[in-house]
Amino acid sequence: MEHIQEHINTEHIWAEARDFLQQYYQENQLEGLAARLREVEAAIGLKGQYWHTAEELAFGAKLAWRNSNRCIGRLFWPTLKVLDYRRINSPQAFIQALEDHIALADGSRKIRNVISVFPPQAPGKRLPFRIFNYELIQYAGYQEADGQIIGDPKHLEFTARCQALGWRGAGTPFDLLPLVYQYEDQPVQFHEWPPELIQEIEIEHPEWSSFQSLQLKWYKLPMISNMRLSIGGIDYPTAPFNGWYMLNEIATRNFGDQQRYNLLPAVADKLGLDRSSPFWKDKALIALNEAVYHSFQKAGATIVDHHTACEQFMRFVAREQAEGREVTGDWSWLVPPNAGSTTEVFHQEWSNEVKCPYFFPPSDSKG
Ligand code: ARG
Repeated sequence: MEHIQEHINTEHIWAEARDFLQQYYQENQLEGLAARLREVEAAIGLKGQYWHTAEELAFGAKLAWRNSNRCIGRLFWPTLKVLDYRRINSPQAFIQALEDHIALADGSRKIRNVISVFPPQAPGKRLPFRIFNYELIQYAGYQEADGQIIGDPKHLEFTARCQALGWRGAGTPFDLLPLVYQYEDQPVQFHEWPPELIQEIEIEHPEWSSFQSLQLKWYKLPMISNMRLSIGGIDYPTAPFNGWYMLNEIATRNFGDQQRYNLLPAVADKLGLDRSSPFWKDKALIALNEAVYHSFQKAGATIVDHHTACEQFMRFVAREQAEGREVTGDWSWLVPPNAGSTTEVFHQEWSNEVKCPYFFPPSDSKG
């Protein structure tokens, strides 16, 4: 079975553990590395793994963010709040932990960057808690009999899976999908979030009142839940984390992409744009960006525009260089889909080398 780790390579774990612990002790100027290394080496020899201290875990999660080649928001890596849920042992506590995470991340004026770390993969054992969602908060997509799609086409398959588990959505374009999870070897289950826990923003345009009739909205909290956090040779496949949105993610990609909500034609028509001009898509995209930005700002919801995000990223790069560290990055993900060449990120080359700790994607899908 794919989620039971059969073969453990203790050589590999030990090499990764050594690198990580050296970095942890060095960057934090700590004493006692040699003793800790002896302890960890003995544990790996005995059990094929070792247990991170709470401090090692917190630092490792922050490094995994700092090393995330596809992330433009890395300036804020030191502020990551790490919730240590490695000792949780019941589905009730699991769901409570996730709901606490959402409330903590999105409960005050500004979104906080939070990660929840659940029990690691143990050699030869089943992972106690698995999450099947791509993000904890996401919208359903339904294929109608006539082939038409309602909602987010990205989640057609996942929605069908939820329905097979007995979940029923209202059938609107913005139905919140449930959490789909598995505890030990129990059947896969779903859990619907209490509606008041999930904050959503209705989208209006600052100038065009006709825009409102599109009846768009989006949730505030992007919370990736399918990446594997890897620290010093130990894998945490269940470690959902949240940031805040960069404007283009919602306005340009989720709303604009043809294979997503595909809203450019409808927006163009609402605004009366001349579709025989080659620029109608550009104009519709700008209108969508203005609308999402304005609506989030008006609601006091944290969001960053792509120009500011790129400036913040370049500050991160400068800070890293001052510390003597080279920043790695994936150009095709870092450059924003709008006005790319107006940002400094566009005009540089980035080494896409993977440095551990890291968040590994389950597949190479782009989104
Ligand atoms: N692109 C994803 C979405 O639109 C979110 C990915 C994570 N984004 C973030 N700002 N932390 O939902």
